[in-house]
Amino acid sequence: MKIHRDTACGELTAADAGREVALGGWVESARDHGGLLFVDLRDRTGVVQVVFDPGKDQELFRTAEGWRSESAVGVRGTVRRRLPGNENPRLRTGEVEVVPSEIETYSVARPLPFDVAHADAVDEALRLRYRYLDLRRSRMLENLRLRHRLFHAIRQFYTAEGFVEVETPFLTKSTPEGSREYLVPNRQEPGTFFALAQSPQIYKQLLMIGGLERYFQIARCFRDEDMRADRQPEFTQLDVEMSFVEEEDVVASTERMLVETVRDAAGIELPHPFPRITHAAAMLKYGSDKPDLRLPLEIVDLSAAFGKTGFEAFARTLAAGGVVRGLRVPGGGALSRRELDGLAEEARRRGAQGMAWLVAEAPGSFRSPIAKFLSEAELEALARETGVEAGDLILLLADQPAVAAAVLGWARLWAGERFHLADGAPWHPCWITDWPMFEWDEEEGRWYATQHPFTMPREEDLPLLEREPARVRAMKYDLVLNGYEIGGGSIRIASSEVQNRVLKAMGVEGVERFGFFIEALQYGTPPHGGIALGLDRIVMLLAGASSIRDIIAFPKAARAADLMTGAPAAVTPAQMRELHLRVT
Ligand code: AMO
Repeated sequence: MKIHRDTACGELTAADAGREVALGGWVESARDHGGLLFVDLRDRTGVVQVVFDPGKDQELFRTAEGWRSESAVGVRGTVRRRLPGNENPRLRTGEVEVVPSEIETYSVARPLPFDVAHADAVDEALRLRYRYLDLRRSRMLENLRLRHRLFHAIRQFYTAEGFVEVETPFLTKSTPEGSREYLVPNRQEPGTFFALAQSPQIYKQLLMIGGLERYFQIARCFRDEDMRADRQPEFTQLDVEMSFVEEEDVVASTERMLVETVRDAAGIELPHPFPRITHAAAMLKYGSDKPDLRLPLEIVDLSAAFGKTGFEAFARTLAAGGVVRGLRVPGGGALSRRELDGLAEEARRRGAQGMAWLVAEAPGSFRSPIAKFLSEAELEALARETGVEAGDLILLLADQPAVAAAVLGWARLWAGERFHLADGAPWHPCWITDWPMFEWDEEEGRWYATQHPFTMPREEDLPLLEREPARVRAMKYDLVLNGYEIGGGSIRIASSEVQNRVLKAMGVEGVERFGFFIEALQYGTPPHGGIALGLDRIVMLLAGASSIRDIIAFPKAARAADLMTGAPAAVTPAQMRELHLRVT
């Protein structure tokens, strides 16, 4: 290397005029202009303009002319102020340029698969195939910096509070946490497998039994789940566990941590204290256990108002234990007939028997295919309870509570998007508390844990575990931000007897596999609880990104594929033999 850089491109200002500098970076672009060559040189701090004048140095000019975009080069030269009128106010270095005296080509870039400086619209698959080029974009770099700042702030916070970061194994035993696991074949003993940790859950509880008392870890987790914009097969959690605590301790400390670290890392002030909403209230009012509270829309239960209805469809549903619920969409009267029909159709696709709509044309007067079936009193109650005004839309649905919640919850989000109700709205974190311990899975016909089986049921509900699982409440809390589930935790079971009963009630297979854990619980387990936050999702929200792929350096694409390396891929027959594996 002839030119050893001593100055960052992005930091040069008028105050540097006259300085001799050595720069290193990438050729972002080159423009021929009036016989001169203007090269934008970029490093991680930003861009500065370098001007080549063939009249001054023919050879330098020729070499620079041959630089392809994204080649790595060095420039030694003198900083000078640009001529008046040539400044670029959009650039931090826009008042100056560099006049080169010596240059060096470190590495020439091949013709590029896409224009790095303008890659926002480039197909994501292509960007992921060449992720190392994609990462050169300032936005990607800024996302990774933001991620780092948040992680750093988190480590500082917990260190100051006396927590210890402990790494737990990736290669673990298959556990009953609920997600499909990645298995790793074991060469040493044919037919045995490790499972990649889907979370450090069991280990962090063992750390509490081990006397750590205050643990945290920025931990990688592995889950073989279908991908979504906010889901990756490997993702990063902030994992926390504390001993001798109650729900309130974990909730309060997590809230304080999030407010402080988000302020530090992103300069965003989360309004606090975060509202706490019971799971039941969230399902009723927002039709979701991760409500986007930025949307000023609430679902209203109208079952009582329609208690004596003559409208056959509603009466039948109510008699069968169903509910009637409505959602008022301010200004929704502007929707076309086609959009309204589309909504009803989507509602049916989502399992509802139907969804009716009413547009308020004036106080007390509705335009709707079902208005004629509703009594004067019912329409009045509808208007009163939803607070409808002229020009508003009411979506009305009679169904079983779970279906009504899911479909109106979806309609609420749809309306939020259609009318841009969340745009520019302040951040809206909240806690969802008082979860039911179990949820009935219609398809599989069995009770499912709403979280993992280590969550402690409320003491007073313990007798119901075997008799009436539906009524057991869990000491579980979820953290939600702008409609995303960003964390979840609970107070844990600290008794082997209760742990056994819960595993059985959940019908967890292979209970004997956790014998080691049940045994550990019998050696003086402190009361303990914790939480894990999805750091990828938090960084995504802070970055204003729409997918966690944008804030992970090397994310997976659909079907868990790494488009750059080609993983997952077949391995050699020799490797297969060594692992005692055969593909059938
Ligand atoms: P849970 O499974 O709810 O809890 O996970 C905690 C948080 O991790 C995030 N998350 C994900 N992020 C990206 N991709 C995924 N595939 C993914 N899955 C989950 C979510 C979620 O809220 N051991 C418990 C925590 C505890 O009880 O302390 C656990 O893992 O933001």
